[in-house]
Amino acid sequence: MSPDPPNVRLRRVREDDLPILFEHQMDPEANRMANFPPRDRDAFVAHWTKILGDASLVAEAIELDGEIVGNVVSWTHDGERDIGYWIGREYWGAGIATAALRALLSELEERPLFAYVAEHNVGSIRVLEKCGFRVVERVALPEGEGGGFELRYRLDDPSSASATIA
Ligand SMILES: CC(C)(COP(=O)(O)OP(=O)(O)OC[C@H]1O[C@@H](n2cnc3c(N)ncnc32)[C@H](O)[C@@H]1OP(=O)(O)O)[C@@H](O)C(=O)NCCC(=O)NCCS
Repeated sequence: MSPDPPNVRLRRVREDDLPILFEHQMDPEANRMANFPPRDRDAFVAHWTKILGDASLVAEAIELDGEIVGNVVSWTHDGERDIGYWIGREYWGAGIATAALRALLSELEERPLFAYVAEHNVGSIRVLEKCGFRVVERVALPEGEGGGFELRYRLDDPSSASATIA
């Protein structure tokens, strides 16, 4: 039997969360997985200040036992709604991303939702598939963006988040 999912709680990111989220996105292994370079402190603060000032963006801190362990976000881009997440490395492998994405999916009514993931990011792919997302496209990335392939995932059915593999 699988262990109980972690009891995560989502709440809007606040300015005083930014130092922790900054550390999370500085991890080199996380950057390699996500195929996304770290932002320096000024660029990071500028990016998040924009996010926090835009009510159309969903920006949730993931709390576990009162600690901020990551974030899960949603934004619109070219008319589609995308989701993303990032977990602090010391918390990986405990079911947090899956639990946090499921919590977000139960709060967000809009469908379809989309996610983009590097083909080598097996952890993130597993999170998406456990939450009901299905791959709809495989796109070659230019060398300047690390090369390799990126997968586009889509979620249609609002009930699929709870009806997936345990
Ligand atoms: C990818 C990431 C979100 C996974 O978070 P997590 O909280 O460890 O994920 P979960 O514990 O919910 O794991 C879900 C499943 O993926 C598997 N998994 C997670 N990381 C894995 C890895 N590096 N390699 C292989 N499998 C992995 C888990 O074993 C679990 O599978 P199971 O249910 O069959 O046991 C996290 O590593 C991270 O934030 N990475 C850096 C940022 C990033 O890649 N963001 C996503 C960009 S698309």
